[in-house]
Amino acid sequence: SDGLSFIDDLSLFCAGRIELCSGLLEGGTTPSMGVLQVVKQSVQIPVFVMIRPRGGDFLYSDREIEVMKADIQLAKLYGADGLVFGALTEDGYIDKELCMSLVALCRPLPVTFHRAFDMVHDPMAALETLVTLGFERVLTSGCDSSALEGLPLIKRLIDQAKGRIVIMPGGGITDRNLQRILEGSGATEFHCSARSSRDSGMKFRNSSVAMGASLSNSEYTLKVTD
Ligand SMILES: *[C@@H]1O[C@H](CO)[C@@H](O)[C@H](O)[C@H]1NC(C)=O
Repeated sequence: SDGLSFIDDLSLFCAGRIELCSGLLEGGTTPSMGVLQVVKQSVQIPVFVMIRPRGGDFLYSDREIEVMKADIQLAKLYGADGLVFGALTEDGYIDKELCMSLVALCRPLPVTFHRAFDMVHDPMAALETLVTLGFERVLTSGCDSSALEGLPLIKRLIDQAKGRIVIMPGGGITDRNLQRILEGSGATEFHCSARSSRDSGMKFRNSSVAMGASLSNSEYTLKVTD
């Protein structure tokens, strides 16, 4: 019930948990173990580690599954407090068999099913599958391009979940729309990158050279969590 008042004063707002990933521009991929180690040494709050070997879809090959399993074991070794992943079948259902074996590998740590959920065939049925598989939470934009647009479905999911699994809205949540999403969904946990841009410290610059495929992001503009 104090949820509404703290949003009035953003200086009092602080994260209760970190979802650690790299490659935010790809929607998040598995972070390096160096990042995890340093983050764990720097913060007190729980750090949940994204296990996603690449960007793109959530249909994984045997080799990719091998990588995910190795990453789960390493993340646990380096102090992860929870793990975040998702896997689908080619028909758009939750890949139960794979999720079951990954969840088993993650235990005793809590697991979150990430926004692969937003690409399933039948969200209501998928939610029941996640409850059965033992996921503690699901990150979702309500199967839309942002949590604000997916708000009606998020609300339906929360009603259906009845506290059996945490529905955590995420996708385009900012300080400007957080309160609307809070009031419209009744959710108690929220997920956002809180990203802003910072100008590079480089004094010598050559802007005709770019490193990656992305044309919109200059090497001299750094994305940071604000
Ligand atoms: C910037 O890069 C271009 C292309 O490689 C090069 O021709 C040019 O000399 C560079 N400019 C500076 C100031 O180094």
